[in-house]
Amino acid sequence: MQKNNKNSVIYMKSLGKRYDDEAGVLDALKDVDLQINEGDFVAIMGPSGSGKSTLMNIIGLLDKPTSGVFLLDDVDIATLSPKKLAGLRRDKIGFVFQSFNLLPRLNVSQNVELPMVYARKSKSFRKKKTEEVLRKVGLLDKAKHKSNRMSGGQVQRVAIARALTNDPSLILADEPTGNLDTKTGTEIMNLLKDLNKQGVTIVVVTHNPEIGEYANRIVWVRDGLLHNKRLAQ
Ligand SMILES: Nc1ncnc2c1ncn2[C@@H]1O[C@H](COP(=O)(O)OP(=O)(O)O)[C@@H](O)[C@H]1O
Ligand SMILES: [Mg+2]
Repeated sequence: MQKNNKNSVIYMKSLGKRYDDEAGVLDALKDVDLQINEGDFVAIMGPSGSGKSTLMNIIGLLDKPTSGVFLLDDVDIATLSPKKLAGLRRDKIGFVFQSFNLLPRLNVSQNVELPMVYARKSKSFRKKKTEEVLRKVGLLDKAKHKSNRMSGGQVQRVAIARALTNDPSLILADEPTGNLDTKTGTEIMNLLKDLNKQGVTIVVVTHNPEIGEYANRIVWVRDGLLHNKRLAQ
């Protein structure tokens, strides 16, 4: 695969991930070629154990490939120190996971604010940003609610709000609708679609069968191998 001229956010060439431990050797990803461009909405689908989370963890700089090339925004991540990688992760990427746990003693806005507290943002900035992202996910009126009173869909909205606090250019969501009923899952996918329309690149692992309405590409993973399919838009 040649790198095309569009602005690639993610470019992988012959990438592999091998787990090698007491249990044995497993090639969780094999010879992966993948390019994801700015503004894409990519859905990763495939059976359990096929390598989807492994791929997401590498894209999100939480794990490293054991072979091949990975460029993030044209930067070869193999050349970066752990500190640089952490910085990139903090500045560029928003994570949304299936089992997002809110801290039950904190209310909704305090939960959203937390990463900004760690990032030492000023109080006035945090207040403004929290309001902005809660408005985006339609939860501004729930800002003071205790999080243990929230429904699954609301919790996932809070997770998305929290992922937005650093203005990420890339959102990674690993099965964000996995614990939700179909209607609520659809709401969450629509929310991701809205963010995508605003220019955020989205990569989502999902089992949602109506994915064509949201993604402009589906990447199928099977036994660590990728199969690309571009959808008509
Ligand atoms: N840290 C690890 N060490 C060893 N094997 C792993 C590890 N993480 C995942 N695997 C294995 O890699 C394969 C792919 O796993 P995963 O990426 O989690 O699949 P999926 O997300 O598609 O269900 C599975 O066989 C899994 O058991
Ligand atoms: Mg997984």
